[in-house]
Amino acid sequence: MLEWDDAPAAVPAPSPARAMPPRLQAVPVRTPEPKGVRVPPPDDFELTPSAAQAEAGATGLEAVEMGARRIQVDDKKIINCRADLNQLVPFKYEWAWKKYLDACNNHWMPQEINMSADIALWQDPNGLTEDERTIIKRSLGFFSTADSLVANNLVLAVYRHLTNPECRQYLLRQAFEEAIHTHAYQYCIESLGLDEAEVFNMYREIPSIHDKAAWSLPFTQSLADQEFHTGTPENDQRLLRDLIAFYVVFEGIFFYVGFVQLLSFGRRNKMVGVSEQIQYIMRDESMHMNFGIDVINQIKIENPHLWTAQFQQEIADMLNEATQLEIKYAHDTMPRGVLGLNASQFNEYLKFVCNRRCSQIGLKQLYPGAENPFPWMSEVMDLKKEKNFFETRVTEYQTGGALSWD
Ligand SMILES: [Fe+2]
Ligand SMILES: [Fe+2]
Repeated sequence: MLEWDDAPAAVPAPSPARAMPPRLQAVPVRTPEPKGVRVPPPDDFELTPSAAQAEAGATGLEAVEMGARRIQVDDKKIINCRADLNQLVPFKYEWAWKKYLDACNNHWMPQEINMSADIALWQDPNGLTEDERTIIKRSLGFFSTADSLVANNLVLAVYRHLTNPECRQYLLRQAFEEAIHTHAYQYCIESLGLDEAEVFNMYREIPSIHDKAAWSLPFTQSLADQEFHTGTPENDQRLLRDLIAFYVVFEGIFFYVGFVQLLSFGRRNKMVGVSEQIQYIMRDESMHMNFGIDVINQIKIENPHLWTAQFQQEIADMLNEATQLEIKYAHDTMPRGVLGLNASQFNEYLKFVCNRRCSQIGLKQLYPGAENPFPWMSEVMDLKKEKNFFETRVTEYQTGGALSWD
Protein backbone atom coordinates (compact mmCIF):
# COMPACT_ATOMS: atom_id res chain seq x y z
CA MET A 1 0.00 0.00 0.00
CA LEU A 2 1.34 3.38 -0.92
CA GLU A 3 1.57 5.98 1.74
CA TRP A 4 2.58 9.60 1.44
CA ASP A 5 4.51 9.24 4.66
CA ASP A 6 6.34 6.03 3.98
CA ALA A 7 9.00 5.89 6.66
CA PRO A 8 12.55 5.40 5.44
CA ALA A 9 13.20 1.68 5.38
CA ALA A 10 16.95 1.65 5.54
CA VAL A 11 18.79 -1.14 7.33
CA PRO A 12 21.78 -0.70 9.62
CA ALA A 13 25.26 -0.80 8.21
CA PRO A 14 27.05 -4.14 8.48
CA SER A 15 29.67 -4.49 11.18
CA PRO A 16 33.05 -3.61 9.72
CA ALA A 17 34.49 -6.92 10.88
CA ARG A 18 32.13 -8.84 8.59
CA ALA A 19 32.25 -6.58 5.58
CA MET A 20 33.84 -7.89 2.38
CA PRO A 21 37.27 -6.36 1.86
CA PRO A 22 36.99 -3.85 -0.95
CA ARG A 23 38.27 -4.79 -4.37
CA LEU A 24 38.88 -8.37 -3.33
CA GLN A 25 37.31 -11.21 -5.16
CA ALA A 26 36.88 -14.59 -3.59
CA VAL A 27 39.12 -17.24 -5.10
CA PRO A 28 39.05 -20.66 -3.50
CA VAL A 29 42.24 -22.40 -2.46
CA ARG A 30 41.34 -26.01 -1.91
CA THR A 31 41.39 -29.45 -3.46
CA PRO A 32 38.98 -30.18 -6.30
CA GLU A 33 35.53 -31.40 -5.32
CA PRO A 34 34.34 -34.89 -6.28
CA LYS A 35 32.69 -34.81 -9.68
CA GLY A 36 29.03 -33.77 -9.55
CA VAL A 37 29.15 -32.59 -5.96
CA ARG A 38 29.09 -28.87 -5.08
CA VAL A 39 30.30 -28.09 -1.60
CA PRO A 40 30.17 -24.51 -0.29
CA PRO A 41 33.61 -23.28 0.67
CA PRO A 42 34.44 -22.97 4.36
CA ASP A 43 33.93 -19.60 6.06
CA ASP A 44 37.63 -19.02 6.51
CA PHE A 45 38.70 -19.84 3.01
CA GLU A 46 41.30 -17.59 1.56
CA LEU A 47 40.59 -14.36 -0.25
CA THR A 48 43.11 -13.68 -2.94
CA PRO A 49 43.23 -10.68 -5.23
CA SER A 50 42.95 -11.56 -8.88
CA ALA A 51 43.85 -9.62 -11.99
CA ALA A 52 40.19 -8.88 -12.61
CA GLN A 53 39.84 -7.07 -9.28
CA ALA A 54 41.93 -4.20 -10.42
CA GLU A 55 39.06 -3.20 -12.68
CA ALA A 56 35.93 -4.16 -10.81
CA GLY A 57 33.12 -3.36 -13.20
CA ALA A 58 29.42 -2.58 -13.00
CA THR A 59 28.51 -6.19 -12.32
CA GLY A 60 31.20 -6.96 -9.76
CA LEU A 61 31.93 -10.00 -11.86
CA GLU A 62 34.66 -10.09 -14.45
CA ALA A 63 34.83 -13.87 -14.69
CA VAL A 64 32.66 -16.76 -13.61
CA GLU A 65 34.85 -18.73 -11.24
CA MET A 66 34.01 -22.30 -10.35
CA GLY A 67 33.74 -22.80 -6.62
CA ALA A 68 33.97 -19.11 -5.74
CA ARG A 69 32.70 -18.31 -2.29
CA ARG A 70 28.94 -17.92 -1.97
CA ILE A 71 27.65 -14.39 -1.52
CA GLN A 72 26.78 -13.55 2.07
CA VAL A 73 24.31 -10.85 3.09
CA ASP A 74 27.05 -8.70 4.53
CA ASP A 75 28.96 -8.79 1.25
CA LYS A 76 26.22 -6.55 -0.14
CA LYS A 77 26.57 -2.77 -0.13
CA ILE A 78 24.37 -0.16 -1.67
CA ILE A 79 27.27 1.62 -3.38
CA ASN A 80 30.87 0.62 -4.02
CA CYS A 81 30.15 -3.09 -3.65
CA ARG A 82 32.83 -5.26 -5.20
CA ALA A 83 31.05 -8.58 -4.76
CA ASP A 84 29.26 -10.37 -7.59
CA LEU A 85 26.12 -8.34 -8.31
CA ASN A 86 24.26 -11.12 -10.07
CA GLN A 87 22.81 -12.76 -6.97
CA LEU A 88 19.44 -11.37 -6.00
CA VAL A 89 19.34 -13.44 -2.82
CA PRO A 90 20.11 -13.43 0.03
CA PHE A 91 18.19 -10.17 0.31
CA LYS A 92 19.83 -7.44 2.29
CA TYR A 93 17.48 -4.59 1.40
CA GLU A 94 14.05 -6.18 1.77
CA TRP A 95 12.40 -2.78 1.20
CA ALA A 96 13.72 -2.68 -2.36
CA TRP A 97 12.38 -6.14 -3.16
CA LYS A 98 9.01 -5.27 -1.57
CA LYS A 99 8.74 -2.12 -3.67
CA TYR A 100 9.49 -4.15 -6.78
CA LEU A 101 6.63 -6.55 -5.90
CA ASP A 102 4.25 -3.67 -5.05
CA ALA A 103 5.11 -1.92 -8.31
CA CYS A 104 4.35 -5.08 -10.29
CA ASN A 105 0.99 -5.36 -8.52
CA ASN A 106 0.23 -1.77 -9.57
CA HIS A 107 0.85 -2.43 -13.26
CA TRP A 108 -1.33 -0.45 -15.65
CA MET A 109 -1.26 0.65 -19.29
CA PRO A 110 -2.37 4.02 -20.70
CA GLN A 111 -4.63 2.64 -23.42
CA GLU A 112 -6.81 0.93 -20.80
CA ILE A 113 -8.12 4.33 -19.74
CA ASN A 114 -11.16 5.68 -21.54
CA MET A 115 -10.40 9.02 -23.19
CA SER A 116 -13.71 9.55 -25.00
CA ALA A 117 -15.12 12.15 -22.57
CA ASP A 118 -11.86 14.13 -22.77
CA ILE A 119 -11.90 14.14 -26.55
CA ALA A 120 -15.50 15.41 -26.63
CA LEU A 121 -14.77 18.13 -24.08
CA TRP A 122 -11.58 19.22 -25.83
CA GLN A 123 -13.34 19.45 -29.20
CA ASP A 124 -16.27 21.44 -27.77
CA PRO A 125 -15.38 25.12 -28.37
CA ASN A 126 -17.12 26.00 -25.10
CA GLY A 127 -15.88 22.98 -23.20
CA LEU A 128 -12.85 24.54 -21.56
CA THR A 129 -11.49 28.04 -21.00
CA GLU A 130 -8.27 29.14 -22.65
CA ASP A 131 -6.53 29.11 -19.25
CA GLU A 132 -7.64 25.52 -18.72
CA ARG A 133 -6.39 24.51 -22.17
CA THR A 134 -3.06 26.18 -21.45
CA ILE A 135 -2.65 24.19 -18.23
CA ILE A 136 -3.34 20.89 -20.01
CA LYS A 137 -0.86 21.65 -22.78
CA ARG A 138 1.87 22.99 -20.49
CA SER A 139 1.56 20.05 -18.12
CA LEU A 140 1.78 17.55 -20.95
CA GLY A 141 4.71 19.56 -22.34
CA PHE A 142 6.61 19.41 -19.07
CA PHE A 143 5.82 15.81 -18.14
CA SER A 144 6.47 14.32 -21.58
CA THR A 145 10.06 15.52 -21.46
CA ALA A 146 10.54 15.10 -17.70
CA ASP A 147 9.80 11.38 -17.71
CA SER A 148 12.25 10.92 -20.54
CA LEU A 149 14.93 12.78 -18.58
CA VAL A 150 14.26 10.62 -15.53
CA ALA A 151 14.37 7.42 -17.59
CA ASN A 152 17.66 8.35 -19.21
CA ASN A 153 19.13 9.26 -15.83
CA LEU A 154 18.07 5.90 -14.41
CA VAL A 155 19.35 3.74 -17.20
CA LEU A 156 22.47 5.64 -18.18
CA ALA A 157 23.59 6.91 -14.78
CA VAL A 158 21.93 5.64 -11.59
CA TYR A 159 21.87 1.95 -12.52
CA ARG A 160 25.63 1.77 -12.91
CA HIS A 161 26.36 3.25 -9.51
CA LEU A 162 23.85 1.42 -7.29
CA THR A 163 25.72 -1.81 -6.66
CA ASN A 164 22.96 -3.97 -5.25
CA PRO A 165 20.89 -6.52 -7.15
CA GLU A 166 17.59 -6.00 -5.32
CA CYS A 167 17.81 -2.24 -5.86
CA ARG A 168 18.65 -2.83 -9.51
CA GLN A 169 15.64 -5.11 -9.79
CA TYR A 170 13.49 -2.17 -8.69
CA LEU A 171 15.33 0.20 -11.05
CA LEU A 172 14.51 -2.06 -13.98
CA ARG A 173 10.84 -1.92 -13.00
CA GLN A 174 11.01 1.83 -12.51
CA ALA A 175 12.59 2.27 -15.93
CA PHE A 176 9.65 0.43 -17.52
CA GLU A 177 7.21 2.59 -15.56
CA GLU A 178 8.89 5.74 -16.88
CA ALA A 179 8.38 4.35 -20.38
CA ILE A 180 4.70 3.80 -19.54
CA HIS A 181 4.45 7.41 -18.36
CA THR A 182 5.96 8.77 -21.56
CA HIS A 183 3.56 6.48 -23.42
CA ALA A 184 0.65 7.92 -21.37
CA TYR A 185 1.53 11.50 -22.31
CA GLN A 186 1.86 10.56 -25.95
CA TYR A 187 -1.49 8.78 -25.70
CA CYS A 188 -3.14 11.91 -24.23
CA ILE A 189 -1.52 14.19 -26.82
CA GLU A 190 -2.60 11.92 -29.66
CA SER A 191 -6.13 11.41 -28.29
CA LEU A 192 -6.73 15.15 -27.99
CA GLY A 193 -5.18 15.87 -31.36
CA LEU A 194 -2.66 18.33 -29.93
CA ASP A 195 0.19 19.73 -31.95
CA GLU A 196 2.87 17.16 -31.05
CA ALA A 197 5.76 19.37 -32.10
CA GLU A 198 4.46 22.21 -29.93
CA VAL A 199 4.04 19.98 -26.86
CA PHE A 200 7.29 18.05 -27.20
CA ASN A 201 9.32 21.22 -27.76
CA MET A 202 7.99 23.16 -24.79
CA TYR A 203 11.11 22.42 -22.77
CA ARG A 204 13.00 24.36 -25.44
CA GLU A 205 10.45 27.12 -25.95
CA ILE A 206 8.58 27.84 -22.69
CA PRO A 207 10.95 29.43 -20.15
CA SER A 208 9.45 27.99 -16.95
CA ILE A 209 9.52 24.46 -18.43
CA HIS A 210 12.99 24.96 -19.85
CA ASP A 211 14.25 26.18 -16.46
CA LYS A 212 13.23 23.00 -14.67
CA ALA A 213 14.68 20.70 -17.33
CA ALA A 214 17.87 22.76 -17.48
CA TRP A 215 18.18 22.70 -13.67
CA SER A 216 18.29 18.91 -13.68
CA LEU A 217 20.83 18.37 -16.43
CA PRO A 218 24.04 18.94 -14.43
CA PHE A 219 22.85 16.31 -11.97
CA THR A 220 22.86 13.55 -14.54
CA GLN A 221 25.79 14.50 -16.73
CA SER A 222 28.66 13.46 -14.50
CA LEU A 223 27.01 10.20 -13.50
CA ALA A 224 26.49 9.28 -17.11
CA ASP A 225 30.13 10.06 -17.84
CA GLN A 226 31.86 6.69 -18.31
CA GLU A 227 34.96 8.12 -16.65
CA PHE A 228 33.05 8.90 -13.45
CA HIS A 229 33.45 6.30 -10.70
CA THR A 230 32.31 6.29 -7.11
CA GLY A 231 34.68 5.24 -4.35
CA THR A 232 36.08 8.56 -3.15
CA PRO A 233 34.25 10.78 -0.64
CA GLU A 234 33.98 13.53 -3.24
CA ASN A 235 32.48 11.27 -5.91
CA ASP A 236 30.21 9.47 -3.45
CA GLN A 237 28.85 12.86 -2.40
CA ARG A 238 28.36 13.66 -6.04
CA LEU A 239 26.26 10.51 -6.46
CA LEU A 240 24.27 11.27 -3.30
CA ARG A 241 23.62 14.84 -4.46
CA ASP A 242 22.50 13.66 -7.88
CA LEU A 243 20.19 11.04 -6.39
CA ILE A 244 18.61 13.74 -4.23
CA ALA A 245 18.26 16.01 -7.27
CA PHE A 246 16.36 13.40 -9.26
CA TYR A 247 14.42 11.44 -6.64
CA VAL A 248 13.67 14.20 -4.14
CA VAL A 249 13.57 17.34 -6.29
CA PHE A 250 12.60 16.20 -9.76
CA GLU A 251 10.15 13.43 -8.87
CA GLY A 252 9.31 14.81 -5.42
CA ILE A 253 8.85 18.57 -6.04
CA PHE A 254 8.90 19.39 -9.76
CA PHE A 255 6.00 17.05 -10.54
CA TYR A 256 3.64 18.42 -7.95
CA VAL A 257 2.23 21.60 -9.51
CA GLY A 258 1.35 19.56 -12.59
CA PHE A 259 -0.16 16.78 -10.47
CA VAL A 260 -2.37 19.22 -8.52
CA GLN A 261 -3.43 21.05 -11.68
CA LEU A 262 -4.33 17.96 -13.69
CA LEU A 263 -6.02 16.18 -10.79
CA SER A 264 -8.08 19.32 -10.17
CA PHE A 265 -9.70 18.81 -13.57
CA GLY A 266 -10.82 15.36 -12.52
CA ARG A 267 -12.21 16.66 -9.24
CA ARG A 268 -14.44 18.93 -11.34
CA ASN A 269 -15.42 16.11 -13.66
CA LYS A 270 -13.39 17.54 -16.54
CA MET A 271 -10.71 15.75 -18.55
CA VAL A 272 -11.37 12.64 -16.49
CA GLY A 273 -9.23 10.40 -18.68
CA VAL A 274 -6.17 12.63 -18.44
CA SER A 275 -6.77 12.94 -14.71
CA GLU A 276 -6.98 9.21 -14.29
CA GLN A 277 -3.75 8.71 -16.21
CA ILE A 278 -2.15 11.21 -13.85
CA GLN A 279 -3.59 9.46 -10.82
CA TYR A 280 -1.85 6.23 -11.82
CA ILE A 281 1.33 8.09 -12.70
CA MET A 282 1.36 9.86 -9.34
CA ARG A 283 0.94 6.52 -7.57
CA ASP A 284 4.02 5.23 -9.43
CA GLU A 285 5.97 8.43 -8.85
CA SER A 286 5.23 8.34 -5.16
CA MET A 287 6.82 4.92 -4.99
CA HIS A 288 9.79 6.01 -7.11
CA MET A 289 10.43 8.87 -4.72
CA ASN A 290 10.06 6.66 -1.64
CA PHE A 291 12.47 4.14 -3.14
CA GLY A 292 14.95 6.93 -3.86
CA ILE A 293 14.63 8.24 -0.32
CA ASP A 294 15.29 4.75 1.08
CA VAL A 295 18.38 4.50 -1.12
CA ILE A 296 19.60 7.94 -0.06
CA ASN A 297 19.13 7.14 3.62
CA GLN A 298 20.82 3.76 3.22
CA ILE A 299 23.84 5.41 1.59
CA LYS A 300 23.96 7.81 4.56
CA ILE A 301 23.84 4.91 7.04
CA GLU A 302 26.62 3.01 5.32
CA ASN A 303 28.69 6.14 4.62
CA PRO A 304 28.06 8.60 7.47
CA HIS A 305 31.22 10.54 6.59
CA LEU A 306 29.46 11.86 3.46
CA TRP A 307 26.70 13.68 5.40
CA THR A 308 28.82 16.61 6.58
CA ALA A 309 27.38 19.92 7.79
CA GLN A 310 28.67 21.58 4.65
CA PHE A 311 27.08 18.96 2.42
CA GLN A 312 23.77 19.25 4.27
CA GLN A 313 23.82 23.01 3.67
CA GLU A 314 24.51 22.42 -0.01
CA ILE A 315 21.51 20.09 -0.21
CA ALA A 316 19.29 22.54 1.71
CA ASP A 317 20.27 25.29 -0.74
CA MET A 318 19.46 22.99 -3.64
CA LEU A 319 16.01 22.18 -2.23
CA ASN A 320 15.30 25.85 -1.62
CA GLU A 321 16.31 26.81 -5.14
CA ALA A 322 14.17 24.02 -6.60
CA THR A 323 11.15 25.04 -4.51
CA GLN A 324 11.42 28.62 -5.74
CA LEU A 325 11.69 27.36 -9.32
CA GLU A 326 8.52 25.30 -8.92
CA ILE A 327 6.71 28.28 -7.37
CA LYS A 328 7.72 30.27 -10.43
CA TYR A 329 6.39 27.50 -12.65
CA ALA A 330 3.03 27.66 -10.81
CA HIS A 331 2.80 31.41 -11.43
CA ASP A 332 3.81 31.08 -15.10
CA THR A 333 1.29 28.34 -15.85
CA MET A 334 -1.49 29.94 -13.84
CA PRO A 335 -1.35 33.74 -14.01
CA ARG A 336 -5.05 33.86 -13.09
CA GLY A 337 -7.13 31.70 -10.78
CA VAL A 338 -8.45 28.60 -12.48
CA LEU A 339 -10.19 25.38 -11.36
CA GLY A 340 -10.49 26.80 -7.85
CA LEU A 341 -6.71 27.09 -7.70
CA ASN A 342 -4.51 30.16 -7.56
CA ALA A 343 -0.77 30.60 -7.68
CA SER A 344 -0.45 31.87 -4.12
CA GLN A 345 -1.85 28.56 -2.80
CA PHE A 346 1.10 26.92 -4.51
CA ASN A 347 3.58 29.11 -2.63
CA GLU A 348 2.31 27.51 0.56
CA TYR A 349 1.87 24.05 -0.91
CA LEU A 350 5.36 23.81 -2.35
CA LYS A 351 6.91 24.98 0.91
CA PHE A 352 4.86 22.30 2.67
CA VAL A 353 6.08 19.68 0.16
CA CYS A 354 9.68 20.86 0.53
CA ASN A 355 9.42 20.53 4.32
CA ARG A 356 8.27 16.92 3.90
CA ARG A 357 11.18 16.16 1.61
CA CYS A 358 13.64 17.70 4.07
CA SER A 359 12.27 15.55 6.90
CA GLN A 360 12.38 12.42 4.74
CA ILE A 361 16.12 12.75 4.17
CA GLY A 362 16.97 13.99 7.64
CA LEU A 363 17.29 17.73 7.08
CA LYS A 364 15.69 20.52 9.08
CA GLN A 365 12.54 21.91 7.49
CA LEU A 366 13.25 24.99 5.37
CA TYR A 367 9.83 26.61 5.83
CA PRO A 368 8.58 25.81 9.34
CA GLY A 369 4.84 26.17 9.73
CA ALA A 370 3.92 25.84 6.03
CA GLU A 371 0.56 24.13 5.69
CA ASN A 372 -1.05 21.98 3.01
CA PRO A 373 -3.83 23.84 1.17
CA PHE A 374 -4.63 20.67 -0.80
CA PRO A 375 -5.23 17.95 1.81
CA TRP A 376 -7.05 15.90 -0.83
CA MET A 377 -3.68 15.29 -2.53
CA SER A 378 -2.62 12.99 0.30
CA GLU A 379 -5.80 10.99 -0.13
CA VAL A 380 -5.31 10.52 -3.86
CA MET A 381 -2.02 8.78 -3.12
CA ASP A 382 -3.98 5.75 -2.06
CA LEU A 383 -6.39 4.90 -4.86
CA LYS A 384 -8.52 2.72 -2.64
CA LYS A 385 -9.40 5.58 -0.35
CA GLU A 386 -11.31 7.49 -3.02
CA LYS A 387 -13.22 4.97 -5.05
CA ASN A 388 -15.34 7.56 -6.82
CA PHE A 389 -12.71 10.23 -7.09
CA PHE A 390 -13.15 10.80 -10.79
CA GLU A 391 -16.53 9.15 -11.09
CA THR A 392 -15.17 6.82 -13.73
CA ARG A 393 -15.78 3.13 -13.69
CA VAL A 394 -12.24 2.07 -13.04
CA THR A 395 -10.63 3.62 -10.03
CA GLU A 396 -8.79 0.61 -8.72
CA TYR A 397 -6.36 -1.32 -10.79
CA GLN A 398 -4.40 -4.37 -9.85
CA THR A 399 -2.72 -6.83 -12.17
CA GLY A 400 -5.11 -9.57 -13.22
CA GLY A 401 -8.22 -7.47 -12.71
CA ALA A 402 -10.51 -7.12 -15.73
CA LEU A 403 -11.37 -3.63 -16.88
CA SER A 404 -14.84 -2.79 -18.11
CA TRP A 405 -16.47 0.38 -19.29
CA ASP A 406 -20.14 -0.55 -19.20
FE1 LIG B 1 7.52 8.92 -14.42
FE1 LIG C 1 9.46 8.37 -11.77
